[in-house]
Amino acid sequence: MTSHDFLTPTAGGHAALARAVHAAVDTLRRSLPNAPYSGASPEALGALLHGELLPDAGVSIDQALQQAEAIVRHSIVTGHPGAAAHLHCPPLIAPLAAEVLLSALNQSMDSFDQAPAATIVELQVTDWLCRAAGLPAGAGGAFTAGGTQSNYMGLWLARDVWLAQQRGWSVRTRGLPPNANRLAILCSEVAHFTVEKSAIQLGLGTDAVVKVAVDAHFRMIPTALDEAIDRLAAEGRTPFCIVGTAGTTDFGSIDPLGALADAAERCGAWFHVDAAYGGALLFSPRGATALAGLDRADSITLDFHKLLWQPISCGAFLLRDAAHYELLTTYADYLNPESHATDGIPDLVNRSVLTTRRFDALKLWMTMRVLGREKLAALIDQTCALAQSVAAVIAAHPSLELVHAPEQLSCVLFRYRRQRQAGAEGHAATRDDQLNTLIRDDLFRRGVAVIGVTKVRDRTTLKLTLLNPTAALHELSAIVDAVVASGAALDVATP
Ligand SMILES: Cc1ncc(COP(=O)(O)O)c(C=O)c1O
Repeated sequence: MTSHDFLTPTAGGHAALARAVHAAVDTLRRSLPNAPYSGASPEALGALLHGELLPDAGVSIDQALQQAEAIVRHSIVTGHPGAAAHLHCPPLIAPLAAEVLLSALNQSMDSFDQAPAATIVELQVTDWLCRAAGLPAGAGGAFTAGGTQSNYMGLWLARDVWLAQQRGWSVRTRGLPPNANRLAILCSEVAHFTVEKSAIQLGLGTDAVVKVAVDAHFRMIPTALDEAIDRLAAEGRTPFCIVGTAGTTDFGSIDPLGALADAAERCGAWFHVDAAYGGALLFSPRGATALAGLDRADSITLDFHKLLWQPISCGAFLLRDAAHYELLTTYADYLNPESHATDGIPDLVNRSVLTTRRFDALKLWMTMRVLGREKLAALIDQTCALAQSVAAVIAAHPSLELVHAPEQLSCVLFRYRRQRQAGAEGHAATRDDQLNTLIRDDLFRRGVAVIGVTKVRDRTTLKLTLLNPTAALHELSAIVDAVVASGAALDVATP
């Protein structure tokens, strides 16, 4: 056992870390493929990645990194233009440097005495985000593991603040009220599934989530929202929260936030905005128009590990009235005694569902400083413009049907169009659906491209989620060509 197994505040400790970090980067350099994916199946990976997890005697970091090469070789290469399935971004270098720093510092964001400077930085960054989103003084935020956690926090607070204010009921002390199954959450039919997942966690069940129709651009229809509110009233149910989405997962569509805020005001509901994807537009001059109405939200979900290129995890939750955090605060004598609040000692555990929590704010802090406003805006706009160009390439291709072109963000949806054969229309549609799934699987298995597949109005549809501003149009056109080639080959090969 040597003291250099630990990061001690000594020259030896720092030298050991520098060696280990260099060796890890060398492993990446040696092993990361120049392809989006190796194509290996779960079975092949299970067979390949075997070995003693806890040997009696350990090996050196270099040896372990050598063994880790297989893991690197069979990872998704997020920086490759052919990796375009999900909201899964290539990381910027600046926050990767911050990752080393924050992991080495190992501050824990729950209490000031475990993260003094880090607490102040997180407060500064979240205050900046609140101002950027147009929230008033008194707003406050905290970093989260991502959109799932932020949406959960938004709906949790929505339920508890609403019940306290409108029914004089404290969920915190009394649990759910007897008529909790009368409570409803309204969101669009293409809102993220974590709205439902949150409803499950909150003891309301998925029946509490009422889906509102979207228009041809996949944005919630305000009149359909009004009708849904009226229908709920007729059924004796009450919407306590309206969820707007600024950047739907499949389409990047942004609900008309102002109209949703009006509806929330009219019916006394909380207004939560899931801006996990579209919140990146806060860093672009386009945001002021695209996100109009965001400033009226009671709570906001932001995710920086999507269109802001942060290494996972990096998200934030913003709350219009930070005083509401008291509903999720529990004081513990050993950690965040109530006296801290009166003494002005900020313990951020009071703003989170987590206790121990990473100093992810440092990554955004670093990114904002290193790239600056102009470059970040240019990168976001460039990424979205690239997606529009790819949509134009697809629209012009005779074998493809463009299903959705990006408007504000960067998702392109399309289908391979089989040469029509005689037969019933329904059968042809099913065959097309199967073929598009086969294309996606074929490209994945051969490691040619990692593209998405989803359903749009019940039809199987291919999806490019373009988050890589370094990709060139010809590289993305090559993916489109690969889809067409795969479709033609599979159409012939399969009965
Ligand atoms: C609109 C939206 N909200 C929430 C989430 C969940 O975010 P996370 O995966 O960071 O938990 C996603 C994920 O893609 C999303 O697209």
